[in-house]
Amino acid sequence: MNEKNTVPNSNSATILPSLLSADMGRLADAVALLEAEGCDLFHLDVMDGHFVPNLTFGPPMVKALSRSAKTAEFCVHLMVNEPEKMLEQFVTERVRYLSVHAETCPHLHRTLQQIRQLGVGSGVALNPSTPPQAVEYALQEADLVLVMSVNPGWGGQWFIEEMLDKIKVLADWREQREVFQYVIEVDGGIDAATAPRALEAGARLLVAGNAVYGAPDPAQAYHDLCALTEPYR
Ligand code: DX5
Ligand code: ZN
Repeated sequence: MNEKNTVPNSNSATILPSLLSADMGRLADAVALLEAEGCDLFHLDVMDGHFVPNLTFGPPMVKALSRSAKTAEFCVHLMVNEPEKMLEQFVTERVRYLSVHAETCPHLHRTLQQIRQLGVGSGVALNPSTPPQAVEYALQEADLVLVMSVNPGWGGQWFIEEMLDKIKVLADWREQREVFQYVIEVDGGIDAATAPRALEAGARLLVAGNAVYGAPDPAQAYHDLCALTEPYR
């Protein structure tokens, strides 16, 4: 895997604003707003209207945002069927991680290897109903495990408590097995109440859509969430 894509310290926590809750007509502005506040990693939700009922955007938008970003990088979350057919199209110099859903990948081990071969961090996302054991066999090929804490499709949903146990299992595995080097990302329902609990369970990349861009002052909301990660920096 490309050096630039590695997380220097998998114990350091980061808030990833999700552009899904920003003004879709002004996504580049939404990135610039928080880049100016020091944000260096954003979350992009690609939805195909099949794997999830909602439809967002595809490679042209990821490329356009990559061009407009000054310093920030992106974590691209593919909620699409047959992602292996389009991985290459999502690779830009600014994409740090590319995540596919386990439920869409009959050959997950191979798909994660393909992502790494493209020079991007490989991620596997798990629906709330998918147990970590379903992907355990392939986790040595994963740089990121994305634990969905809502059913994918929309922002602004309630955090599913039971996902804390899934995060703990994944964090224990990583502690116990040298071949597991992934960082744990949690996505869905993250706010000031749930962020500390996800951090305590072992998540280190925290996606926040509604809690940032849905707030009256997104910059302030971003800083307030970042403050909660201080003990994990
Ligand atoms: C949902 C997406 C999330 C979404 C999270 O399917 O994967 O990334 O933006 O939004 P919030 O933080 O509002 O739950
Ligand atoms: Zn997402």
